[in-house]
Amino acid sequence: MIGAPGPIGTPPGMAVSDRKEPAVLRASFPPSRLKRTPTGETQAMAGKSRVSRKVQQFTESVIREMTRLAQQYDAINLAQGFPDFEPPEAVKEAACRAIRDGYNQYSVTWGTPRLRRAIADRYRRVYGLDVDPDRQVVVTCGSTEGMMASMLAVIDPGDEVIVLEPFYENYGPDGILCGATPRYVPLVEPDWRLDLDALRRAFSPKTKALVLNTPNNPTGRVFRREELEAIAELCVEWDVLVLTDEIYEYITYDAPHVPIATLPGMADRTVTVSGASKTYSVTGWRVGWAVAPPDIADGIKKAHDFLTVGAPHPLQEAVAEALDLPETYYRDLAGMYRQKRDRMVAGLRALGFRLTAPEGAYYIMSDIRDVTAMDDVAFARWLVEYGGVAVVPGSSFYANPADGRTKVRFNFCKQDATLEEALRRLQASLPRVPY
Ligand SMILES: Cc1ncc(COP(=O)(O)O)c(C=O)c1O
Repeated sequence: MIGAPGPIGTPPGMAVSDRKEPAVLRASFPPSRLKRTPTGETQAMAGKSRVSRKVQQFTESVIREMTRLAQQYDAINLAQGFPDFEPPEAVKEAACRAIRDGYNQYSVTWGTPRLRRAIADRYRRVYGLDVDPDRQVVVTCGSTEGMMASMLAVIDPGDEVIVLEPFYENYGPDGILCGATPRYVPLVEPDWRLDLDALRRAFSPKTKALVLNTPNNPTGRVFRREELEAIAELCVEWDVLVLTDEIYEYITYDAPHVPIATLPGMADRTVTVSGASKTYSVTGWRVGWAVAPPDIADGIKKAHDFLTVGAPHPLQEAVAEALDLPETYYRDLAGMYRQKRDRMVAGLRALGFRLTAPEGAYYIMSDIRDVTAMDDVAFARWLVEYGGVAVVPGSSFYANPADGRTKVRFNFCKQDATLEEALRRLQASLPRVPY
């Protein structure tokens, strides 16, 4: 919701400019998910604890913490990626109908037959992929669980997993929970190109999987067929699986989305994770899926069953209907986000942010050095409290927080009026940035 015009999160009667700057801007705000003591060791190494070493190695999600702060300060939430507009009426109606029609108990653990068939049909129709709905599709609680269950199904402690960096913050904790050893390969700025030599160097006999995310969060990259072919070639050479997160598959602007599973030889070594959240603007429904070769799908089914038993039954039925929306729906979705992208790219550039326009997904990763000398965390914290806009500190997307210190991520999955108000608030507050 758009907050009232004027001072944001300010006690009634007090102008923003009257408020005291916090003594320590970074207080209580985790600089990175990977926790460290003052001497630099992870807390897990520092002594006995009632909680596991695994969970001590990461903190609460910074993205979701920013949502909490946005609520606290009545800020516009350009941090966590969820729309502030409604899903299509037909999709909402399908959910209500499913509840009324009695789909209210557990479904088949790995997904209702109707939804699995709809997923397989769509993969065949759109990408020409031959997917067996009974043996290759696992419906999960969002793609978040899809990725976690997939990693649990294929990774043993000590296995190496290649992750392109910057990366969606969940992959770090996902890897830790599986005992994976991550190998990060940086994408090259300013246009987030894949560095093939660096990628080649990351492979070893211990490499079990590569985590791919295209269209990419946070960079907006849509990896091109040639790049995916190069990745595929290395994965075949080293006998490595690809875990690909394609949750933004229908939100592309400048290049078509190419599922890596469609490349020759790749269907048998790829787990494709996606879901309903972004395509149908239903992030709260928690319906996603993993599509995998049958032996791997069997493993994912087991991990999924004991993690969650199943995704919400009536919402699975509704997503099955959503998957049958006409192709114009998907074109309109991408067209709507393209307009928002163009507006935000122009607006942020006009305010002095240095950025590469995203080719897909709905995020803009921007350099902040031309607007502030603050680091990402201090700036994000200042902005949510004193500027009325929540963004995500860039360090959330890097294993080494220092690598993201000069960046923040904006989302643009909001109503046009919300985005205009956010730009207005940025314009009003940036001249007051303390340093
Ligand atoms: C790359 C990526 N994967 C997964 C998710 C979460 O998706 P879901 O709602 O299906 O769990 C997000 C949400 O922002 C995301 O950006």
